[in-house]
Amino acid sequence: MNKHARNQVLVAGLILLTVISALMLGMAVKQDGMLRRQTYNHAAALHDLVLVARRWNASHGGAYLGHSGPGGKEAFERIGPEAMTREISELARGDALFSFHIASLDPLNPDNAADAWERTALEGFARGEKERAEVSTNGSGLRFRLMKPIYVEQSCLACHAQQGYRVGDVRGGISVSLPYDAVASSLRRNFIGMIVLAVLLLILFVLTLYFLIWRLMESLSQLNSDLASLNETKDRFLGMAAHDLRTPLAGVVGLAQLLQEEPLGPEQRQFVDGILASSERMLSLITDLLDVAKINRGRLDLNLQDADVAPLLSQAAEFIAPIAKKKGIALETKIAADAGSMKLDSKRILQVLDNLLSNAIKYSKAGTTVTIGAERSGGRLSIWVQDQGVGIAEKDLPKLFLEFSQTDSRPTAGEESHGLGLAIAKRLVELHGGTVHASSAPGKGSRFTIELPVSARSRETRR
Ligand code: HEC
Repeated sequence: MNKHARNQVLVAGLILLTVISALMLGMAVKQDGMLRRQTYNHAAALHDLVLVARRWNASHGGAYLGHSGPGGKEAFERIGPEAMTREISELARGDALFSFHIASLDPLNPDNAADAWERTALEGFARGEKERAEVSTNGSGLRFRLMKPIYVEQSCLACHAQQGYRVGDVRGGISVSLPYDAVASSLRRNFIGMIVLAVLLLILFVLTLYFLIWRLMESLSQLNSDLASLNETKDRFLGMAAHDLRTPLAGVVGLAQLLQEEPLGPEQRQFVDGILASSERMLSLITDLLDVAKINRGRLDLNLQDADVAPLLSQAAEFIAPIAKKKGIALETKIAADAGSMKLDSKRILQVLDNLLSNAIKYSKAGTTVTIGAERSGGRLSIWVQDQGVGIAEKDLPKLFLEFSQTDSRPTAGEESHGLGLAIAKRLVELHGGTVHASSAPGKGSRFTIELPVSARSRETRR
């Protein structure tokens, strides 16, 4: 599998991992909240039970416990709500399941002194808090603790007034404590189980995805190599056919040129001219096809040499001048003084310029001007060909440089265009490390710009 596809699988896996982690975290938080609430309800029920028992005791003015005293005589002892609560709580303390405690910051009975946690809870109640519920650790492990305040009523003052209390004060509180270790560890076990499951699912998913993409890539790369070899066959065939056609055609051109030298009658001369024009057109098409085949097969090598830019452009303009003149089109050159020199394949750049210039002339009407110019900025040389011709429709611009592309624009004098010239020009410029692009205002003209990077070395040789 290639690197790109593997990265994509990894990214998909990562995204999934993030989503799953977020989901699990959310679930864990929710579950933790639910268990906490459940434990809270449990503790609150216990607390209320203690309150009810105290109220029952108080409503009877205390409970009386019978003892068999010394000498078999029966004796009764009165147990008030406070003592009852404390005694039951002492019993429950031995029980691992739950414990509770009546506590005060200012206890009558030192056994009822608040522990550290109860102290903060009671201080909170004094500030107006209504209850405190928390998971806290005490030496033996995690406990869920709930404490609610007990307020002073009128009836309490009978016994507690000397401590300085007033009605409404917080006299103390009842705290209930439940073991939370089991709950927390089952939560943890649950969470770990879920993580393991999610990771397994994720691995399964990534492996499946990986496998599927791998199979897809395999068949794609098979298809790709089939296509490449077909393309190669096509280009080879094209190259061979063009090459084999070129030699006899060059012969026809040569012979027709010789024939033109001969003394001929007007009709014969017309025929020979026709033969020459047609075979030259054919030869130029075949030469272009050969170039395309060569470029596509990577067989076109540039012959890079330092060349002065200005003379090269003038030469290109000179070549095309007769055609421009014939169509009544003015040719202008605007070459910046600092165009300098650079490393390039003059023959190929001339081919590119010839192509752009002959295109400009093809699509221009008599009386207009075609300009070729060059300027240097930064590390780049731009060469441009501007015409005042029919222009190119916006939608045609992107396909302008594709092989065999046809546009809506028509040559003004019925000239031919096989749609290879710009494709070849683009590839030749690209072989030089440059770019070519076109801009146009339909009806007003077009501008083709070539940008070539000037290497540091050629810039030095310029000085
Ligand atoms: C009959 C007297 C009496 C009355 C009435 C009374 N208490 Fe108490 N209270 C006591 C005694 C005695 C203790 C100590 C009990 C023990 O040994 O734990 C106590 C202890 C407490 C404690 C535990 C902290 C400590 O000081 O040891 C709280 C809280 C408490 N009383 C609240 C109240 C409230 C609230 C009322 C009114 C609803 C009230 N008491 C009414 C006698 C009384």
